[in-house]
Amino acid sequence: MADLVTGPDHTDSMFFMTPSPFEPFPTIETARLVLRAPTLDDVEGMFLAASDPRVVKYLGRAPATRETTREKLVKVTDALVRGASILWILIDRASGAHVGSACIWNWNEGDCRAEVGYDLAPSRWGQGLVTEAMTPILRVGWERMKLHSLEGQVHPDNVGSIRVLEKLGFVKEAHFLENRFNGTSFEGTVVYSKLSPL
Ligand SMILES: CC(C)(COP(=O)(O)OP(=O)(O)OC[C@H]1O[C@@H](n2cnc3c(N)ncnc32)[C@H](O)[C@@H]1OP(=O)(O)O)[C@@H](O)C(=O)NCCC(=O)NCCS
Repeated sequence: MADLVTGPDHTDSMFFMTPSPFEPFPTIETARLVLRAPTLDDVEGMFLAASDPRVVKYLGRAPATRETTREKLVKVTDALVRGASILWILIDRASGAHVGSACIWNWNEGDCRAEVGYDLAPSRWGQGLVTEAMTPILRVGWERMKLHSLEGQVHPDNVGSIRVLEKLGFVKEAHFLENRFNGTSFEGTVVYSKLSPL
């Protein structure tokens, strides 16, 4: 409410918005990767992985089209600007190739909890790349986002992803039975989580 003493009430306006924790964008370099901000020019690179049936096998969705990939990138870049979630494009340092993406999303600010996600081109699976990328990404969650915990939701048969979470120090917290309908059948979800070390 505005009055003559305090002036206009900006409670709902940008005057009291907290700065985005993703500004400036935390570009990260690891031994083999550069993790950089997404742009709308990443449609082709993301489409290559997201359209591969091997990549989406445990993600409960159909392979992406260029159009759905573009829509996702628009949402992702918008959420990044709003400070709602963050996604990195994974670039192979040696070749400059776009090899995957990783994100922290589903941010519940009240509970200081969010979810991790990642995918990688199948030609690069099993080389430890996602574990390498996620190690500094978790630090962004603890340090910039001030998270208290992070979770990973995984299809029970997604052994590679479960192994990544275990290597990162996540522990199994729950196993939901047939809690998701993938359009054809019901599937379960395993939830792994990790508490902030800070
Ligand atoms: C899951 C995924 C991200 C893993 O990436 P990655 O870079 O290959 O992971 P890493 O190499 O760091 O680690 C994978 C681990 O799982 C193991 N692994 C992978 N597939 C496996 C399988 N089918 N059975 C048993 N172990 C397997 C690897 O041996 C490795 O473990 P180790 O280091 O102890 O040997 C990648 O396979 C992927 O993009 N999958 C499709 C998308 C997806 O499922 N995303 C996760 C959604 S929750």
